[in-house]
Amino acid sequence: MLTFNYYGHACFMLDDGANKILFDPFLTGNPAATVSEKDVQANYILITHAHGDHIGDAPNIAVRTDATVVGIPEIMDFGGQRVKTIGMNLGGTVKTEFGFVRMVPALHSSGIAGGVACGYVVGVGGKVVYFAGDTALFSDMKLIGERDKIDYAVLPIGGHYTMDPIDAAKAVEFLNAANVIPVHYDTWPVIKQNPEDLFRLVNKAKVIVVKPGHSIELK
Ligand code: NI
Ligand code: MN
Repeated sequence: MLTFNYYGHACFMLDDGANKILFDPFLTGNPAATVSEKDVQANYILITHAHGDHIGDAPNIAVRTDATVVGIPEIMDFGGQRVKTIGMNLGGTVKTEFGFVRMVPALHSSGIAGGVACGYVVGVGGKVVYFAGDTALFSDMKLIGERDKIDYAVLPIGGHYTMDPIDAAKAVEFLNAANVIPVHYDTWPVIKQNPEDLFRLVNKAKVIVVKPGHSIELK
C-alpha cells in the first residue's frame, strides 16, 4: 500500500510501508504545517529548490533521521553537518531502495546562486508519481508524460509564484496524468485559490483534494 500524507504547502510524504519519502519539508514557519520538523520521519528527502518554503527543515530532519537527501548539487549545503546525499541533475535517473527517482525540469528560479529548480518523477509501490515542485506551465511536460505513465501528478496551483488552476489543468493534459493532487495554495493570502476550480477545468484526470494533515491511499 502506498500512502500520500500531506503536511501542508508543498510538503508531503510518500510511504510504501518500507520507505518514507519526504518532499520539500518546509514545516517550521509554515502556517499550514500539520507536523513538526522534530516529529516527521523520513528515509529519503527530495528537495526541488532552495527557496525557504521548499528546502525548509531538510538539514535538521536529515541529521536527526539519517535520511538520504536528494537534490541538485548546488543546493546541498548543510553547514558542515554529516548528511547522506544523492546529488543528481536534470534528466538523471537514480535507482533507490523503493524504486527510482528521475529529476526533471521545472520553470522556476533556484533560490540560491547557481543551480536550477527541478521536479521529480518517482517510481514507488508500483505507481509513478510526478511532483512538479514550483513551476510555470511548460509544454515539455508532454515529454515527462510520454516517458512514464503518470499515475499521480502533484501540482502547484497557487498562482503568483507558480501555475494557477488554469495552467495546472493544461499541465494535467500535457502530462496525461490519471490523477492530480493540488498543492502550494492557501498557505498565505497571496496564493489563495479555490481547488474546486480544478474540478471544472480538468476533464480527463481525477482531481483529488487532500487537506493538510490528511492522508490518502494511492491506488
Ligand atoms: Ni520557489
Ligand atoms: Mn514555493
